[in-house]
Amino acid sequence: MDVTGLRIDNIGSSDKSQPGERIKLKSKIIDWRTAPPDLASLQEIKDIFRSGGNIVFPTETVFGLGANALSDNACSKVFLTKKRPGDNPLIVHVSSFEMVERIAELDQELKEKLTMVWPGPLTVILKNIGVSKIATSGLDTVGIRMPLHRQARKMIEFAGIPIAAPSANMASRPSITRNSDALREFNGKVDAIILGDEPEFGLESTVIDPYSSPAKILRSGSYTAQELEPVFGKLELYSGNQEHPTTPGMKYRHYSPVKPLYLVENILEFKKVVSRSEDNVVPICSEEVGESLDRYFISLGSQYDLRSVARNLFAAFNAFDQSNYDSAFIHGFQEEGLGITIMNRIRKASSEL
Ligand code: TXA
Ligand code: MG
Repeated sequence: MDVTGLRIDNIGSSDKSQPGERIKLKSKIIDWRTAPPDLASLQEIKDIFRSGGNIVFPTETVFGLGANALSDNACSKVFLTKKRPGDNPLIVHVSSFEMVERIAELDQELKEKLTMVWPGPLTVILKNIGVSKIATSGLDTVGIRMPLHRQARKMIEFAGIPIAAPSANMASRPSITRNSDALREFNGKVDAIILGDEPEFGLESTVIDPYSSPAKILRSGSYTAQELEPVFGKLELYSGNQEHPTTPGMKYRHYSPVKPLYLVENILEFKKVVSRSEDNVVPICSEEVGESLDRYFISLGSQYDLRSVARNLFAAFNAFDQSNYDSAFIHGFQEEGLGITIMNRIRKASSEL
């Protein structure tokens, strides 16, 4: 075992594939956890992307499941691997403005605004002029973002092509924010997995429509409205509904652990419910609340540091799924700033009590 608890020398295949599914015995593991990206692995990644392969890689938000955004075939494989509905478009990742201009319409005014928030966890919806129609699910728009994560940007820059990547998780399941979860979930299902710097934000990018008036937040994310408003003006948080989803993806179930997770918003109520619960139930809570419980809990970090809660949230859901516990309770967080995104993800992940 190395310091991160991952063994990468002998990763066997976990072949649970159904007839007709693509069977891969092993994914190529590229390890950038302790050394910067080297030329040989960058070249290997470029070759995989350019020949239509899929690669799981870390970003500053969550891990992505990447493919050449210009190739219908490469993008189709992403939908198949994730079991993602075909009408939910992929986000396209770029490493430069020059790359944006090759695939989408971008005017000077918006470009200047984007230089203030990119690279970073923001996706903007633009008119598509160059990306595969499979990636955009046939829409004439494309969601684009320039990641802050250095290794991700280096990978895209070296490959020289825009990379379409949804979050690397099976459709409806929690996103992945740890190398160990990426490896367990995707080894054998994709051509390569890059292990690297784990996401510092832990929640997906904020998706905005910059051309509506006022500009709209279609999906809350790691950039808060307060951080974006100095650049884009007043933003409307468009909540949508099942018939009129804000983004195509919003009509689907999301972020849920396989086992039931129940939200008890009020902390006092949460403590009561936990104290009455059986041993097969695990609390998922802030460090402060956990310390008052007198039983094992999965920690989300300090309640007073919402960035740490964001960074730990999906890892906690995945740890719960891997544990022997049958169900879990989670408490609420104040819905302000990053708390809005945290509560959005918790609500979507949890079952009715
Ligand atoms: O942080 C992130 O955004 C991560 C990392 C990997 O970059 N990616 C991610 O992708 O969260 P995904 O596929 O899980 O979510 C993409 C969201 C979906 O809600 C989708 O409907 C929306 O973006 N979206 C993509 N293209 C769109 C478009 N042209 N118009 C409206 N919504 C779009
Ligand atoms: Mg997702």
